[in-house]
Amino acid sequence: MIHTNVRAIVLAAGKSTRLKTGRNKLLEELCGQPMILFSTKTLGALAIPTTVVVGHEAEALKTCIQEAHQDTVTFALQSSQEGTGSALRCTRSFWDKDHILVINGDMPLITTEVIEALYEKHIADNASVSFVMSHHIEPNSGYGRVVQKENHIKIVEAKEFDGDTNEYCCVNAGIYLINTSFLKETIDTIAQNETTHEFHITDLIAIASEQQKTVATINAPFDVIRGVNNQHELWAAEQIKRSELIKYWMERGVRFSVAHNVHIDLDVTIGAGTYIGCCVHLLYGTTIGQNCKIHEYTSLEYAHVGDNTQVYPFSIISHASVGSDASVGPFAHIKEGTSLGDRTAVGNFVEVKNSTFGAGSKAKHLSYLGDATLGNNVNVGAGTITCNFDGNKKHRTEIEDNAFVGSNNTLVAPLHIGQGAFTAAGSTINKDVPADALAVGRARQENKEGYAKRLLKKDIQPARLEQQNKPAAQETCASDTCKEKKTFMGAVRTTNDTIIDEHR
Ligand code: UD1
Ligand code: CA
Repeated sequence: MIHTNVRAIVLAAGKSTRLKTGRNKLLEELCGQPMILFSTKTLGALAIPTTVVVGHEAEALKTCIQEAHQDTVTFALQSSQEGTGSALRCTRSFWDKDHILVINGDMPLITTEVIEALYEKHIADNASVSFVMSHHIEPNSGYGRVVQKENHIKIVEAKEFDGDTNEYCCVNAGIYLINTSFLKETIDTIAQNETTHEFHITDLIAIASEQQKTVATINAPFDVIRGVNNQHELWAAEQIKRSELIKYWMERGVRFSVAHNVHIDLDVTIGAGTYIGCCVHLLYGTTIGQNCKIHEYTSLEYAHVGDNTQVYPFSIISHASVGSDASVGPFAHIKEGTSLGDRTAVGNFVEVKNSTFGAGSKAKHLSYLGDATLGNNVNVGAGTITCNFDGNKKHRTEIEDNAFVGSNNTLVAPLHIGQGAFTAAGSTINKDVPADALAVGRARQENKEGYAKRLLKKDIQPARLEQQNKPAAQETCASDTCKEKKTFMGAVRTTNDTIIDEHR
């Protein structure tokens, strides 16, 4: 347990040049969470008061941290990015505790355990400086090497190290615990590095060692202390975090069909017995119940899915909820503000936005339902759409329990369809429908006996047809590939003389 005699400083002001995006790397997300929050949340879990050094993209970083931590984190500004030593120097006014814990902000895999272990060693050894190191023999990997000779210890930065990595097999992790009086005495003695022209925090280790002060070290697994400087390291760290999350859910009874192809964020929960298909995206804030099947190529973001629900391939559920024993998709788009109750079914090519479905309601094919409230057991026929937007305002469509909306309806909102009402297929419904009524809103069909034959062959006036066939008079398609010629009443004559009625 870390005592209240520690303040943490997180270094986050660097320019992130190696990432090559122009952005501050600490705003990059891993598993849906900005990199900076991995260290600030770890420190928060240990209740260590924290100050973050900001510089490059300071405002964006501050906003991101404030949103996550309210006002519990304080900030120091490093106006010119002159290295980790200068970043630490900018925090002088915050050195209000006996020990200062300094952490590089670019260590998203950091754990509370490594910090606690460092603290225990630092206190036990009564050290002036303590730091975490890790076994890593890969040359040119960008890490500072721990060089220990006789009683002397120092960090040699990657650009200056030309020794054998098998002999100097440990790297500096970027986590330091420094006695505050020692820090106050020595911070201004850090000299500008001749190669990088920066001030290196790591020089404090050599300074302590030269002054024959105690320097304590602990070892940590490399995967815990990985730093992120470039895109490849960002990818690798996210892979590790993601595989930890997948392992966690596997241990709780979740089946992943192709685990390495799943994108899973932090802050996702999945119930036991649920199956997650290939290439599924389970994004931040999603909760899935037990015994669900989330099929291939679906994407869920801030989605809540009840128990025993099926989400079929190529569906998107975003900022919306689906109840238990329900089914969604394939190819369904459930958008923000939507709540689908238990036993609902939303099928192929159905888009639902800002709408509520009561229990057992269904819209199974080719629909758009926006700003609609459906009661229980409502059936929406294929091809039905709500006209919710008049170009100016959105309007609601309310459909009461047990109503049956026929196929291919155009529901012009604002609209109210009463309980148990029935609307005929192909209707445009722009007036409220009372409970139990049948609404028919379409042109009455008229059958003209024998007229089809006239149209199809015999009775098309020969003179007129002749005129149609003259090149100059032809109304032809712009496309070269379209060989159709318009004829009488919108019927289309093709080159092989088949006539197709456009007005079917
Ligand atoms: C640093 C260490 C290196 C260690 C490695 C571990 C130094 C000199 N080197 O190298 O020994 O092995 O981390 O990952 O410290 N930052 C500022 N202001 C600056 C420069 C950087 O706040 O002027 C911040 C960065 O945003 C970053 C952190 O400090 O979060 C570390 O800086 P970075 O440039 O990544 O250091 P490394 O070269 O990785
Ligand atoms: Ca780094």
